[in-house]
Amino acid sequence: MTGTATHPSGGLFISFEGPEGAGKSTQLARLATQLQAHGRAHTVTREPGGTPLGLRVREVLLDPALTIDPLPEFLLYSASRAQLVRNVIRPALERGGVVICDRYADSSLAYQGGGRGLNADLLGQITREATGGLTPQLTVLLDLDPAVGLERAARRGQPDRLEQADLDFHRRVRQAFLTLAAAEPARFLILDATQDEDTLADLIWQAAQARLP
Ligand SMILES: Nc1ncnc2c1ncn2[C@@H]1O[C@H](COP(=O)(O)OP(=O)(O)O)[C@@H](O)[C@H]1O
Ligand SMILES: [Mg+2]
Repeated sequence: MTGTATHPSGGLFISFEGPEGAGKSTQLARLATQLQAHGRAHTVTREPGGTPLGLRVREVLLDPALTIDPLPEFLLYSASRAQLVRNVIRPALERGGVVICDRYADSSLAYQGGGRGLNADLLGQITREATGGLTPQLTVLLDLDPAVGLERAARRGQPDRLEQADLDFHRRVRQAFLTLAAAEPARFLILDATQDEDTLADLIWQAAQARLP
């Protein structure tokens, strides 16, 4: 059923999840380089963002001057995600391509659900509506003590609104990611993000290669 299939045939959808500073962007770039080297067409995108609407939503979500309550925060992420799935992810998968996304729906379930305490059923229902049920075949979870992640991210420059939130919040987010991963072991690759970059890149490439169509 084109347009609403959970996995459009032919493509491969991979998401990267984990806290700020875990190494998502680093590993995503390494995977993209590997795919390139193997002549695999791929699309790299990120949440929030990836479309003109998503970029505007991203500016709002990451603006340190704004206070955004948990429900509107989740709805903004969902708006960005819905547009990204329609305009970018699903079309690329339907062309048989590989899509790599820096954060996807699991981030909402972990941050707005586990972290902010929004009802998991509500989040699941709106997420299914926003994505048409599109779920990655592989989700790389870079698991890291939030204190280490925040320290790494801080070295990159000014903390954004998410990075300023307290450590307890980030600990709940970490636990929520691990709970999501435990519920879907076939989809998730859980990696200890304190391992060196090369080791992580090898493990991720193995998992991706095994799922390539
Ligand atoms: N495996 C690793 N070990 C140590 N530091 C790392 C590792 N991977 C990335 N880093 C460093 O941590 C910081 C955050 O990495 P980044 O890829 O931007 O994380 P994220 O996208 O998850 O926020 C960067 O300074 C990066 O060089
Ligand atoms: Mg990043």
